[in-house]
Amino acid sequence: MLIKRNPNGRDLPFPSEITPREVFESRRSFIKQLALGSIAGSALAEMAMREAFAQNAGAPKLAAKPNTSFVLMDKPTAFKDATTYNNFYEFGTDKSDPARHAGSLKPRPWTVSIEGEVKKPLTLDLDSLMKLAPLEERVYRLRCVEGWSMVIPWIGYSFSNIIKAAEPTGNAKFVEFVTLADKKQMPGVTSPVLEWPYVEGLRMDEANHPLTLLTLGMYGEVLPNQNGAPVRIVVPWKYGFKSAKSIVKIRFVKDQPQTAWNIANPQEYGFYSNVNPNVDHPRWSQATERRIGEDSFFTRKRKTLMFNGYDQVASLYTGMDLKKFF
Ligand code: MTE
Repeated sequence: MLIKRNPNGRDLPFPSEITPREVFESRRSFIKQLALGSIAGSALAEMAMREAFAQNAGAPKLAAKPNTSFVLMDKPTAFKDATTYNNFYEFGTDKSDPARHAGSLKPRPWTVSIEGEVKKPLTLDLDSLMKLAPLEERVYRLRCVEGWSMVIPWIGYSFSNIIKAAEPTGNAKFVEFVTLADKKQMPGVTSPVLEWPYVEGLRMDEANHPLTLLTLGMYGEVLPNQNGAPVRIVVPWKYGFKSAKSIVKIRFVKDQPQTAWNIANPQEYGFYSNVNPNVDHPRWSQATERRIGEDSFFTRKRKTLMFNGYDQVASLYTGMDLKKFF
């Protein structure tokens, strides 16, 4: 992988290097560089080229301009880890279940209806969603409430573009994200583990914050089914469960939505669920996290950062007791 050094000596990947997902796979990326570089034309180069691109076969690419305001110093998680260690209970509760079972999800054709307290209710198909605003690539940390984290190059645009298009009325105080619950496509929705459909919600100012990403792809491709195809939300300063997958309806509402994990266990999962190392989960500490891909017996856990390191959202919560509104 091509690494540029920044002035303080730390290795900083450049946005142009984070577009194709093979770049995240160091071995494959390395041989791709070989293939493109000095030994081009040789038998090894040809082999390397095939190896580097083979893994992308079949997955539609999604072009997006890297947004340089959202480049992290953290090394991105390998595509393989990000797509095989998932929470998507509609396909089972084991981390490997979504990768094994989400093949039955049909991400096309797909529509998202935008309704509720809006002047312009809309039903958008996938192509219209893709064209609603320029697609950007943004590298975000994702911190799961279970104590692990990843670093993922998402593709999408600020959710504020949807808000602008729908023109909410003055009554809209919250946004509710309703996701698909189809027994035919999702074997897990026959289980009583959660109330279906999986619903999440944000306060209007949270939904309008530029960081909140309407997400259509990752690692230079459309979203894999197990990561919430074809459209999900990503809210990087909150625990991962706020980032609802496979959204079919977006409702602008007056009252705070009833959300899946809050219904399941209100003592443990609050509506806000901002990443907060100072507020423990009732059954475990939230002070540290295990970065997926870094875990070996000797690896130290990382310190969890307030708002997952996204300090720019702090002003949304001025005057709120975040121990009470956890
Ligand atoms: N969305 C739906 N519809 N169903 C789910 O079970 N799990 C959540 C969230 N969105 C979930 C969901 C949880 S707990 C996490 S941590 C993230 O998705 C995981 O996203 P990832 O698998 O892309 O890392």
